[in-house]
Amino acid sequence: MGTLTPDARARWEHLCRTLEGHNYRYYVLDDPDITDGKYDLLWRELAALETAHAELCSPDSPTQRVGAKPSSGFAEVAHSHPMLSLANALDEAEMRAFDRRVSERLGHESVEYVAEPKLDGLAVSLRYEQGRLIQAATRGDGHRGEDITANIRTISSVPLRLRGDDIPATLVVRGEVYMPLAGFQTLNAAQQARGEKPFANPRNAAAGSLRQLDPKISAERPLTVCFYGVGALSAEKDIQQHSELLAQLQAWGLRVSPEYAVLQGVDACLQYFRVMAARRAGLGYDIDGVVYKLNQLQEQALLGAVSRAPRWAIAHKFPAEEALTRVSAIEIQVGRTGALTPVARLMPVTVGGVTVTNATLHNAEEISRKDVRVGDTVVVRRAGDVIPEVVRVLMEQRPADTHAFEFPSICPVCASAVTRVEGEVVARCSGGLYCPAQRVQAIRHFASRRAMDVEGLGEKRVEQLVQQGLVHKVSDLYGLSLESLVKLERMGDKSAENLLLALEQSKHTSFACFLFALGIRDVGEATARALASHFGTLERLQGADEEALQAVADVGPVVAKQIVLFFSQAHNREVVSALLAAGVVWPDEHPVDEEFPLAGKNFVITGSLSSLSRQQAKERLQALGARVSGSVSSKTDYLVCGEKAGSKHTKAEALSIPILDESAFLTFLQNI
Ligand code: IVH
Repeated sequence: MGTLTPDARARWEHLCRTLEGHNYRYYVLDDPDITDGKYDLLWRELAALETAHAELCSPDSPTQRVGAKPSSGFAEVAHSHPMLSLANALDEAEMRAFDRRVSERLGHESVEYVAEPKLDGLAVSLRYEQGRLIQAATRGDGHRGEDITANIRTISSVPLRLRGDDIPATLVVRGEVYMPLAGFQTLNAAQQARGEKPFANPRNAAAGSLRQLDPKISAERPLTVCFYGVGALSAEKDIQQHSELLAQLQAWGLRVSPEYAVLQGVDACLQYFRVMAARRAGLGYDIDGVVYKLNQLQEQALLGAVSRAPRWAIAHKFPAEEALTRVSAIEIQVGRTGALTPVARLMPVTVGGVTVTNATLHNAEEISRKDVRVGDTVVVRRAGDVIPEVVRVLMEQRPADTHAFEFPSICPVCASAVTRVEGEVVARCSGGLYCPAQRVQAIRHFASRRAMDVEGLGEKRVEQLVQQGLVHKVSDLYGLSLESLVKLERMGDKSAENLLLALEQSKHTSFACFLFALGIRDVGEATARALASHFGTLERLQGADEEALQAVADVGPVVAKQIVLFFSQAHNREVVSALLAAGVVWPDEHPVDEEFPLAGKNFVITGSLSSLSRQQAKERLQALGARVSGSVSSKTDYLVCGEKAGSKHTKAEALSIPILDESAFLTFLQNI
């Protein structure tokens, strides 16, 4: 390693600044002034300098966007200022009504608005301190989100450091992460080439990419960001208008929509909306409406917010999009729980810029109510990220020789009887894991990212393994050998080795992921997590009866029954034993014993505490084995209540739940 000369440091500084400048021009201004080749040379020089002088490498160097290691889950982040949602206007009349309310409240004839496209992505909140990006979080429930800092750092249009001299001490900036359509198409083509399921739309792709635990994977995803507001901004700057704020954000290097406009009065807003609707298909990214905000920040403050949304802004949504096409077939898909879903195969048609070839027909009742038949011309609708659906049939265009669709009474995959529980609309195949379709789905679920996370086990691959008889039940995955895998079609030595490696790695899991992976009916991720932390060990969980299970905050009588049923079946117990025998392990959850005196106790924390943050209070309680949840229910044992508590306090009182104020809480902790 060379000695670090002042020259080398100066060169390093210079390279960092230069590359940041080029990033800004390229990603934020969309106006590069250097070729890719030259950019690469500068980048490599910087990387080489940092390799030679390890002390130079700083987390906000342009080389360090993908530095972080994959994490095992996302930590929770409390938003210092809540992330609000928006009220919607679905037509012109609702927009006018909004404008009337605003004008009346402000006592103005005509109001000044800023219009911005409503980007169809995911809301994020980024915290910059002294100009450095220190934390990024998802919206979550508006109060708490997930810490996605490592993933956000990989997005090139996100500056790791703000630009300019007048940088605020604190800036919490809000924006939308989304995937432009071109990137989305490339990503989906690659997914399919790997035999993995394509994403339904850019929004899902963006969400899936941001939630990748491995930032290396998010780095490969073509995400970008636009900022549209602030949660907090330290008061050095005197900003009076939303439009000034957007200009200031852009100057700090934070990308804002190039489409924003300052408009006077509601008619100008409606005109902007029509123009955007016409330009929508050619924008290169999905938008689902236009957002209008009062331009004067003082007026915003005057109007304030109602529970979840500000009174000073509204989203005027585009109507759901529809198109006409023909039904070429009606097929039945069998899901993981045996549910039969009829799907209409369609002549390809573009709806809102996306090609649609399938649409759900939901269930037997829907199909007969709408009387959808093969050969029919139908109206297909696609709204946001919802799966396209068949809205209705154009009866006047029905050909002469069609037949009403007959819902099968035996499973089209395994020929087992189809059953329907009284009062439920869903028809199910009764074949259970005898049914190859259910088996494929159960195995896919087992291997999925939030379950055992076996990379490279897409739908096609699993189907192949099941069809070839290599895998009957999930535990068979761990008995696969190189010899048997390489005999499969489209499976080279390298892929087979990778799959075995991924399987091996997946054995180190968490109790919660393992439980979720088992695919017990009604046990989703959150319930699996709650069960894992409540019972601590598999033995305890397996030994619990319905009553003991219902002591868990998320578990009611129906779920408790499903869990008991699952573990009472011999074939399930065998699979569980086989998985453990294959080496599936997880670190201990907080076991329920004397070391954890608050085990099994449910706490809710509300209001603001002065001597510690809510997060710290939560961690203290969790370390003692308690469970801390967000809402008060009859299962809550204690409410910890700081200043300015609201409805949770009232509810706890109504349910006679013990309430600890801050000093009582501190004494309580001391006495444990
Ligand atoms: S402003 C308090 N501006 O829409 C104001 N939101 O329906 C909060 N969104 O959660 C949001 N583009 O994810 C705002 N230009 C824009 C937006 C936008 C998209 C999303 C955002 C928000 C949701 C509310």
